This record gives sequence, structure tokens and C-alpha cells, in this order.
Amino acid sequence: MAISIKSEEDLAKMRVAGRLAADVLDFIGEYVKAGVTTEYLDDLCAEYIKSRDCISACLGYGHPPYPKHTCISVNHVICHGIPDDKKLKNGDILNIDVTVIKDEFHGDSSRMYVVGEPSISAKRLIDTTYQAMWLGIKEVKPGATLADIGRAIQNFAEAERFSVVRDFCGHGIGRGFHEEPQVLHYYRKGAEEIVLKEGMTFTIEPMINAGKYQMKILQNGWTAVTRDRSLSAQWEHMLAVTATGYEIFTLSAAEREQGINPCG
Ligand code: MF3
Ligand code: CO
Ligand code: CO
Repeated sequence: MAISIKSEEDLAKMRVAGRLAADVLDFIGEYVKAGVTTEYLDDLCAEYIKSRDCISACLGYGHPPYPKHTCISVNHVICHGIPDDKKLKNGDILNIDVTVIKDEFHGDSSRMYVVGEPSISAKRLIDTTYQAMWLGIKEVKPGATLADIGRAIQNFAEAERFSVVRDFCGHGIGRGFHEEPQVLHYYRKGAEEIVLKEGMTFTIEPMINAGKYQMKILQNGWTAVTRDRSLSAQWEHMLAVTATGYEIFTLSAAEREQGINPCG
């Protein structure tokens, strides 16, 4: 299957879906605090998603069917943490990943949150991962290749002595949750063959570990954790390739207020 090119009508729907995912992530921020469970945060997101007249793409997705509305990945969890009754505690760092479907199109984004005061090293991991995502985004324009994105992220993360997760990647997105292409966050041979074209839509969502990149999947069949139990961070934006660069569909309220232009 080739990489799909979205029409103007498709892009308009992805703008709406992306903004909804961003709104969920804005909404949940104030509820992240010590003593609350990740299940409670998931319930709140589920209610909010419903109130905005869209649905979670995660619930029932994949094999085994994913059981919750969001993924909440705490500390050494890389991704696909399943919300449960464990309470957050001061110093925890977590990624909340939301994917909604509105009008047939997916909106997918994730951010890091901190409980109270994180350690200096946890903060450095979170900030480095955020910068790495942006360095990847800034490579996006027609004629650039997936190798440019992977290299930009990997070079930066490894210069900070962190490692880039190999087993999960960004992805094409639209009517499908996970479409072609796979967007690796490190350089692998062959990535230069995928040339970006106007109208492609995909996510950039680097997972960066404080220790080594190796992971394992827990018994629940979903949750990925670092093998060495080191901390892991992730940020995710969903975007389109435009004639001159990119348009981000999932900017946060804070990013919009900072004057970050969705089109660079
Ligand atoms: N939102 C994740 C991504 O960025 C995928 C989650 S799949 C789920 O691709 F089933 F775990 F929700
Ligand atoms: Co994604
Ligand atoms: Co996601």
C-alpha cells in the first residue's frame, strides 16, 4: 500500500480531530497530582471525549483489544501503559497519549506531565525529548526524507547521552489509526527512500530513554517498559506536509499562546 495523500477536505477534518486530541490533553493537566490513580485520569478523559462528541480510537484497538480510552505511561513505562488503580506520587513523570476519532478521522497526540517536583535528571529527559520531537518536525517539507527526521532526533538525543527507542515509531494517520509510512526516530538504512510529499499526514512521537533503548512487553500484551528500568519520555504531534513545510494539528494551548505557528 502506498502512502495516502489527503485532500483539502480530509485535512480540514484532521485539523478538527487534532485539535480535539490537544484539547483533551489541555483539559487533563490540572488533574495530574499526587494521590490520584491513572484510572481516574482515564475516566476523566473518557468523559471529556464523550462531551466533545468524538470517540477514543484506543478502546478495543488491536490484539488483545486495548482496554482503556488513553495510554498513561509512568516513569520507566515507554508507552501503552494501561490506566489502573495505582496512585501517582510526588516526582513521577508520565506520558498521556490520546487518540480520538471525529468525522472518520484520527487525532493523535501525547505529552509529558509531572507530579510535584521531578528530579533534575527526569526534567532533563523530558525537555530533551520535547526538543528532539521539534527537531524532527522542523525537517518536514516536500523533498525531505524520513532519514532526515530520524537522524535529527537520534543525533540530538544521543549527544545528550540518552537512547532512542527502536521498537515503536511514528506513523501515517488519517482514516486509519496506523497508516503507512513508519516514521522511525533513528536512522535506519532505507529511510532515505521515503520522500515527503505535500498532503502526507503522520505523527512524530519519539520515545527517549535515560538508559538503554532495549524494552520488554508486560504480561498484559501492551505495556512496554525499559529493560534496565530507566526513565522514559515521549511527546507526540500529528502534522501534514504542506507545499513549503508542515502544519501541526495538535498544538497545545500553551504552544499556541507562545506564538508557535502551526505552519512553522
Ligand atoms: N496513540 C498511540 C500512538 O501514538 C497508539 C496507542 S494504541 C492503544 O500510536 F491501543 F494502545 F491505545
Ligand atoms: Co501515534
Ligand atoms: Co499517540
